[in-house]
Amino acid sequence: IPTAKHVVVTSQPETLEAAKQFSTPYIFKADGLAAGKGVYICKNLDELKQAAHDVFNLKKFGTAGARAIIESNLPGYELSVIVLTNGDGYSVLPLAQDHKRLADHDQGPNTGGMGTVAPMTISDSLRKKIVDRIIEPTIQGFKNKNYVYRGIVFIGVMVVHDQPFVLEYNVRFGDPETQVILPLIKNDTVDLFYHLAQGQLDQVELKPLFTACVVNAAKGYPDHAEKGAAIHFPAQYNQQILFCGVKKNQNNQLQVNGGRVLNVVTQAADIQSALNQAYEINSMIDFDGRQFRTDIGKNLKLPAPT
Ligand code: GLY
Repeated sequence: IPTAKHVVVTSQPETLEAAKQFSTPYIFKADGLAAGKGVYICKNLDELKQAAHDVFNLKKFGTAGARAIIESNLPGYELSVIVLTNGDGYSVLPLAQDHKRLADHDQGPNTGGMGTVAPMTISDSLRKKIVDRIIEPTIQGFKNKNYVYRGIVFIGVMVVHDQPFVLEYNVRFGDPETQVILPLIKNDTVDLFYHLAQGQLDQVELKPLFTACVVNAAKGYPDHAEKGAAIHFPAQYNQQILFCGVKKNQNNQLQVNGGRVLNVVTQAADIQSALNQAYEINSMIDFDGRQFRTDIGKNLKLPAPT
């Protein structure tokens, strides 16, 4: 299964030694759960040294930082490939594209995702490479290990010059990928997942729609999200606004209670209309220090969904 060239490291000196085999930017990843923040993109050796200090000396991610990898940069575009499997067969859900950096034009720190669009259209030849080199060997890998896995395999794929590489696996849906994928599925998703858990892979039926999601994050996200700001939003768009890092205060008013505060999710017959609607609703939301990207779906590094 194709992935980036990498070296496993367990200390700051080892990291700096291994860096001699790589060129900038250095990609440094903690080995474990780090709430989506365990990946550093280091422009130079000083930044790499600091990243290794955070992970190995300051133990910023606890035991998730006992090991890390330094790996080569894969400059391309990302696709979120989410597969349902009953351990034997599989079904690929509509492809989504996430926008991981905090700020417009892919600037700022990495986040869990600032917005998504779906379904992405890719060429038949790229789809075949993803299936043959990644999805099938992944499912076959479960079987080879006699590991009965029924559920979701989320594969973060980076496409470099039309060649797919695995960035990460998750055994869960993505956030904010779920927000744009689930509305495209015609099946009753409870039935779909219940059957899957019992080993039955239903045919997934899709709606001919396009979906967009704009994430609103708290002041200070992703490093030091500030809680407590009052959230103002137009109540008539209740259905299009999904709350996440939110709680009600004593006066029953919604306030920010986490880094990823809410999502605006829209569906339409074409991607541009879905994005226009999302940004129209987004413009009516307000809370102190609110952060969101204004370019979700605007600078896609592959043909826009059609
Ligand atoms: N959006 C990326 C993830 O859920 O891991």
